[in-house]
Amino acid sequence: MKIVTILGARPQFIKAGSVSREIAKYKEIDEIIVHTGQHYDANMSDIFFDEMKIPKPDYFLGIGGKSHGAMTGQMIEKIEEVCLKEKPDWVMVYGDTNSTLAGAIVASKLHIKLAHIEAGLRSFNMKMPEEVNRILTDRVSNILFCPTDTAVQNLKNEGYDNLDVKVVKSGDVMQDGAVFYKSLAQKPSCDIQENYILCTIHRAENTDDATRLKDIFAALNEIAEQKQIILPLHPRTKKILKELQIDIDNLTIIDPVGYLEMVWLIDNCALVMTDSGGLQKEAYFFEKPCITLRDETEWVELVECGVNSLVGADKEKIISVYKKNVAFNKENSSLDLYGSGKASKRIVKELLGF
Ligand code: UD1
Ligand code: UDP
Repeated sequence: MKIVTILGARPQFIKAGSVSREIAKYKEIDEIIVHTGQHYDANMSDIFFDEMKIPKPDYFLGIGGKSHGAMTGQMIEKIEEVCLKEKPDWVMVYGDTNSTLAGAIVASKLHIKLAHIEAGLRSFNMKMPEEVNRILTDRVSNILFCPTDTAVQNLKNEGYDNLDVKVVKSGDVMQDGAVFYKSLAQKPSCDIQENYILCTIHRAENTDDATRLKDIFAALNEIAEQKQIILPLHPRTKKILKELQIDIDNLTIIDPVGYLEMVWLIDNCALVMTDSGGLQKEAYFFEKPCITLRDETEWVELVECGVNSLVGADKEKIISVYKKNVAFNKENSSLDLYGSGKASKRIVKELLGF
């Protein structure tokens, strides 16, 4: 069986780390990795391949730093060339980025079976590029690997029971990585104080709205007067903070880190504040409370079980929720919300039996 895997952005490299390791156990599967180039800085891309021992991409398309249309369009053209040459049985895509959508469109037009990992997630906010990407990708997939019961239910609500598509609750491949890499975590070399807060901000809904971004950073600056905030800065956010001359003086800003340092930072922090999808779940895996700087989340079960506070981007609300000092309820960490680190196994078995 030949699988062409499409990767482009940081969270996809992390997810692929676990699935590729599982695929490598089967001689009968040939995985061809295509890196679209959506993320291209060494600390947004190469470091994950090196640290997680993901096979080097067979194809590097070099398409990054462009508008949505140009990026997705150029990726479609190049991925089509790869698929015509490789003639795979499957195209496999992860998550909800422009690279995901490009891979999905190519597979559907060439009548190659499409597997979508992290299917069925919804924020119900159609202004998010990710929401559009995931809805379109789900609709043309042949097999949908859902990380959660909520994702399965979302698909049911959209009538997927009546479509010729297999829906599988596989669990979340991100938990596989967290479990596997925890023992390999590395302490970063930056200044680190007791009980620090780990923060990341990069989502378009925050970075592309000056009011939201200013409010979030005003809140972070105030909180940082009491507690250290370590913020590995995504290049998108770095650029916009500079353009808007937003004050970040109180924060411990570091360059984006690799996964092994990130796992250390999550495992040792007191609290996570983020707009990242992946980091919300990792906070849960490492039993840390999380304040989510978004208006909605795809990981609703974390909000329902009280470990994730969804606060949006209002300065006073962020500070007041922070001051409540919500602790992580350890009972909730025993709930098997995400598959306990066995999702990759289930996915590969299912593909072999399809
Ligand atoms: C993308 C995904 C988002 C995901 C995020 C993970 C889409 C629509 N969005 O957002 O869902 O959460 O990746 O991090 O696919 N840049 C660099 N160096 C890099 C990568 C990006 O400088 O290595 C800069 C470029 O100027 C680029 C900007 O960051 O224009 C944004 O990158 P882009 O890939 O468009 O979106 P992300 O914000 O990374
Ligand atoms: N991450 C990392 N280094 C960083 C910031 C994030 O390794 O400097 C990891 C993080 O732990 C998670 C993944 O990147 O595993 C999430 O990616 P990101 O926040 O970029 O995207 P999202 O999950 O929001 O799509």
